[in-house]
Amino acid sequence: MDFKEEIYLIIKELENNGRYAENKNYCQHGNTTVYKHCVNVTLTSCKMVKYFKWQINKESLIRGALLHDYFLYDWHDKDSSHRLHGFHHPKRALENAKKDFCLNEIEENIILRHMFPLTLIPPSTKEAWIVCIADKWCAIVEILSAIKSKVKGTKKNVNRIMCSKFFSV
Ligand SMILES: [Fe+2]
Ligand SMILES: [Fe+2]
Repeated sequence: MDFKEEIYLIIKELENNGRYAENKNYCQHGNTTVYKHCVNVTLTSCKMVKYFKWQINKESLIRGALLHDYFLYDWHDKDSSHRLHGFHHPKRALENAKKDFCLNEIEENIILRHMFPLTLIPPSTKEAWIVCIADKWCAIVEILSAIKSKVKGTKKNVNRIMCSKFFSV
């Protein structure tokens, strides 16, 4: 099965069995929602694996990447429970994900360690390292795209480039 089809099926499973669709309501970077950001990170992770022909657990990589920011709030809102978001959200995302889904150790490690080196403990699996790197790359691209679209006054942004129409996000 093509990795895009696999991602699509897992997204549907997460939407049907948990609060995944809620991510569409929360802003992540610039004009990218958390939902789009997580799809971007998952696509980028899978592309890296395909390009380098790495042997990994693909299903866990996809599930972990899709859930890595499952903190379920808008971190731009001023709220004392969101303080120091960068440091604390991996833990919140993991708690939410464990409430809604059954996770294995690879998936837990992806979610909990994706903010390294901001959070000091590094990932301990190949899958978590891949998502950790893809997350930084996507954040940079999303932020630069938002700045570019602001300067140019256009709404065209990275989501059209990175998120395949396949996902209709
Ligand atoms: Fe994050
Ligand atoms: Fe992220």
